[in-house]
Amino acid sequence: MSSVAFTNIATLVTNDSQLGDGVLGVMHGATLVVRDGLVSQITQKVPSGVDSEIDCSGKTLLPGFVDSHSHLIFGGDRADEFSARSRGEKYTAGGITSTVKATRTATDIAISRNAQNLLDEALSSGTTTMEIKSGYGLTEKDEIRSIDIAKTFTDETTLLAAHVIPEEFKDSPDSYVDLIINAIIPRSQAKWIDVFCDQGAFNPEQSEAILRAGIENGMLPRIHANQLSSGKGVEIAISLDAASADHLSKSTNSDIELLASSNTVATLLPGAEFSTHLERNLGRRFLDSGATVAIATDCNPGSSYTTSMPFCIAAAVSLLGFTVEEAVRAATLGGAKALRRDDIGEIAVGKRADFALLNSSSYIHLAYRPGVNLVHSTYKSGRAVTTWRK
Ligand code: NIG
Ligand code: FE
Repeated sequence: MSSVAFTNIATLVTNDSQLGDGVLGVMHGATLVVRDGLVSQITQKVPSGVDSEIDCSGKTLLPGFVDSHSHLIFGGDRADEFSARSRGEKYTAGGITSTVKATRTATDIAISRNAQNLLDEALSSGTTTMEIKSGYGLTEKDEIRSIDIAKTFTDETTLLAAHVIPEEFKDSPDSYVDLIINAIIPRSQAKWIDVFCDQGAFNPEQSEAILRAGIENGMLPRIHANQLSSGKGVEIAISLDAASADHLSKSTNSDIELLASSNTVATLLPGAEFSTHLERNLGRRFLDSGATVAIATDCNPGSSYTTSMPFCIAAAVSLLGFTVEEAVRAATLGGAKALRRDDIGEIAVGKRADFALLNSSSYIHLAYRPGVNLVHSTYKSGRAVTTWRK
């Protein structure tokens, strides 16, 4: 049994409004005791009987970010496509095909290294849990190897073989749907099944059939919906009790009402809104409806090439109409809910000691100082997993 006390925490964000002030349950000057990887005590007194102490004067301690939506398994990049958008080109799902080509020809080692580098970036900006999707292989072999590689990094793996119809199936899209259902899904060891249900990707019938096949094979559903056009994605998600519906940029008021009265989290992706010039003020519509809202990076080489949850918090505040408190909660507890996890996303006794320490006395600086990495260190199960930064 080893125990560490994190003392004199200038600002502690617990996400438990019974423990502290406001929706973030904020405490000042508190001490957090970690024992065997779990939070064992939160106190305003000097704790006794601990093995060691870390002084957190001047720092903020908050739950590690839970990035519930990323696409880290790919080769190449699409800087030229981004640059074309800065000259007025529109984002479409078409660019995915070029990453598919680069991914199919990349070695396992190259794909793994790329994902590791991105994960290291995420860790050093305070992310402690990251979901990772396949979706740039689109053959049986390449989708299965994508999941195999993703599993070396996280337990939250998602099969997104239904990302787009690959070029070789352009004239017979339903044959690709058959391949997903009959060959890829039965071999997949992923935890989650996802579908890009949108214009230029999969139609509602195909999407539902794929999600149902995934569920029959033991996977849990989530969906990409209403990114490029409004459709039936939200209805399908709710009818299958999906953990989360993601993107949602073109959602109708009725989609939003449906989500608000469901068990499905609305995951908004501020990095994608930022990089593809989509919807401003999207967050307010969901937050005011009472829906449970998460934010995630959507890290991928096309629509959102960032691993930084602090950046997404800043973008959620300045572009999507979140308050700072709503954004911090959506990036932590919201992400945990989008992954149906109750062991992370909060600082409370018995939860995993996954947290970030900021070189700042307030969480507000996450949005107030955009583009600056304020993370001093990141802890997973009570252990420092990044080098401390002054
Ligand atoms: O979530 N929407 C579909 N997939 C990704 C984008 C993939 C890409 O452009 O490469 C997304 O934004
Ligand atoms: Fe995505």
